[in-house]
Amino acid sequence: MINGLERTTTLNNGTKMPWVGVGTFKIPDGPEVEKTVSSALDIGYRHIDTATYYGNERGVGKVINDSMLERDDVFITTKLWTTDMGFDKAFKAFDQSLDLLDMDYVDLYLVHWPKKGLIKDTWSALERIYETGRARAIGVSNFQIHHLEELLEGADIVPAVNQIEYHPYLNQRDVREFCEEHKIQVVGWSPLIRGKIVNNPSISAISKKYGKTPAQIALRWALQHDVVVIPKTVHEERLRENANVFDFVLADEDMEIIDALDGGTRIGPHPDHVDF
Ligand SMILES: NC(=O)c1ccc[n+]([C@@H]2O[C@H](COP(=O)([O-])OP(=O)(O)OC[C@H]3O[C@@H](n4cnc5c(N)ncnc54)[C@H](OP(=O)(O)O)[C@@H]3O)[C@@H](O)[C@H]2O)c1
Repeated sequence: MINGLERTTTLNNGTKMPWVGVGTFKIPDGPEVEKTVSSALDIGYRHIDTATYYGNERGVGKVINDSMLERDDVFITTKLWTTDMGFDKAFKAFDQSLDLLDMDYVDLYLVHWPKKGLIKDTWSALERIYETGRARAIGVSNFQIHHLEELLEGADIVPAVNQIEYHPYLNQRDVREFCEEHKIQVVGWSPLIRGKIVNNPSISAISKKYGKTPAQIALRWALQHDVVVIPKTVHEERLRENANVFDFVLADEDMEIIDALDGGTRIGPHPDHVDF
């Protein structure tokens, strides 16, 4: 097991979540996702990020259920897709996710995107699901501050997590500060800018200085900002590379160089324009 993969952050309800997980977006269900998750577990990853939208919950669940690990040893996140938002639809979608995963509970259930007019009812459904114990924690994804404010108005439960696009070109300091104030753990998606991290000259220079790869520098930078990371790769050597981020520390001056790369550049949709 690679050192550090066992390290966890404690969410606002006491649930423990590993700092480094594996993303599975765009990995097809069946042999491909099964091979990736299986390699990840062998390497020591204990945190897998999936979603209804990714269509691979069945494969993710199969590998975990067939492994020698106890269910409690692995942290599984899945997400409610936009077309399933609303009070009644959310319960149905959640049941379907559990069926596909073939599990009694997930560790974290997220509202995938903030769709206008559906935030409060959907959150009420997640609160009920949480009360049944079938989701150990509930949270949101792609929520801007105003979406969080809307949700928190009248909510019984503060989201445990906000999973947002987060990388050196989009560091969302305002959202992170709001989340920190409300004890909402930030999880960063596309932490490697979908692989484009290798093209940035400042990151390359820092990577030479530390004898680390550009991916490792970006992940370490996120961790030092208290952001959980879920890089995706289907390659075993990259799974190892992306996990080897606990044996060095970026100096303040290098953190500042990376902070300064923020240009507000998104690779995904803007959360205020969810028309899908
Ligand atoms: N909540 C949301 O709305 C949302 C949106 C997007 C993503 N996510 C989650 O976040 C996860 C990560 O985001 P992402 O998949 O969009 O992007 P990412 O993790 O930033 O990048 C993945 C890409 O980088 C490549 N890569 C992986 N490790 C590398 C390394 N060490 N060096 C160079 N290239 C490397 C991968 O290629 P190979 O696979 O070929 O190695 C893949 O093309 C997703 O898989 C998903 O679970 C959530």
